[in-house]
Amino acid sequence: MNFDPYRYRGRDLHVEGVALKTIAARVGTPFYAYSAEKIRSQFRRFDRAFDGRSHTICFAVKVNSSLAVLRLLALEGAGADIVSGGELALARRAGISADRIVFAGVGKTEAEIEAALQASIFMFNVESEEELELIHSVARRLRRTAPVALRVNPDVEVDTHHHIATGRAENKFGVPFPRAEAVYRRASRMPWLKVVGVQSHIGSQILDVKPYRRTLEKLLPLVDRLAKAGIPLQTINLGGGLGVPYRPGQKGPDPSDLAREVLPLLEGRSLRLIFEPGRFMVAEAGCLVTKVLYRKETAHKNFVIVDAAMNDLARPALYDAYHHVQALRRGGRSWIADVVGPICESADYLAKGRRVPMPKAGDLWAVMTAGAYGYSMSSRYNARPRVPEVLVDGKKWWVVRERETLRDLTRGETLPEVLR
Ligand code: LLP
Repeated sequence: MNFDPYRYRGRDLHVEGVALKTIAARVGTPFYAYSAEKIRSQFRRFDRAFDGRSHTICFAVKVNSSLAVLRLLALEGAGADIVSGGELALARRAGISADRIVFAGVGKTEAEIEAALQASIFMFNVESEEELELIHSVARRLRRTAPVALRVNPDVEVDTHHHIATGRAENKFGVPFPRAEAVYRRASRMPWLKVVGVQSHIGSQILDVKPYRRTLEKLLPLVDRLAKAGIPLQTINLGGGLGVPYRPGQKGPDPSDLAREVLPLLEGRSLRLIFEPGRFMVAEAGCLVTKVLYRKETAHKNFVIVDAAMNDLARPALYDAYHHVQALRRGGRSWIADVVGPICESADYLAKGRRVPMPKAGDLWAVMTAGAYGYSMSSRYNARPRVPEVLVDGKKWWVVRERETLRDLTRGETLPEVLR
């Protein structure tokens, strides 16, 4: 079931049992709010779709690395897909067990590889031959066998924004498909490596699940050739990427659609299936609440200037992404405007040419579907302290990350003697 935690009760927008205006009155704006129950229900939807098949769901930590969100997912049984030593530390801190952590990324450093080996993670998703050699030498030095999968670039076309398509031959990710077998043979001869699987991540915000099937159709013959060559694999990891609806009325894929595409191809095989979903788990659980500062009409356009900006939510500026904007208090007239933030860049917008409520200063609005790649991509650009994060569960809510203060803006900075 697709549960929607955001509903108007009376005229007020609620997340689960809490009015967003109540939170705004206490923590100020802007802030991110997340529905705990939505995150749980998305995890369970995904998990249930692969019931009866041995599988591991490794939440992509980059998508939302709030400790509370990670902990919530850890309690559901999620593993983690990490891309840095920092994410390893966060995942461990949230109680995600190391044997469910997979480590991706084209630029793992020696220190990060060492930390992951010390922690005994599930496996490294290796992205190049030089990385394979480095992992091997670190493993030998530590006298710890490193479990590895190769991230194979399947050269599969996916219909999504070009910045977030990753499985084409021209992308920097993974080992090129034609090289994969040779690299596996090399890896299998390295005594401190244990070859366990294969991984592919073809892109993000994927609404049509067929490319997953095409990926599998490319990977399985490779798995068979490797088995014949005496390199049997135990895991197959199809990455993340399952998309969500961002527009009202849009329908997103269900994990059962994904299961229908891939499970038949895996029948009779004992491979453990791994997924690295991120956006699917948290996007719809979150919103960014912001306050209207000014209204401005020009000969060309109407603008609504709000107190959230591209430093808080970068997706519109970076990918021209659509996020629905709605008022916390329903009703009244509407007009067409650009919703923009206070930052000194024309790219600083949250919505363009959008029908939105007729604003007046002080009105509260929510930028929807902001739980994924929202806070985690935020910055302090224009010396704007990062906003707080709030977790809502039923009628209860907690500030799970406090608003940064002006002191945070200069943390770690010192003035050299000559400048004092
Ligand atoms: N696994 C790997 C190896 C990845 O690179 C990613 C995302 C994921 C899993 C999770 O993908 P998801 O299930 O969330 O689609 N910042 C962009 C998206 C960048 C995706 C990066 N990789 C955005 O805001 O749309």
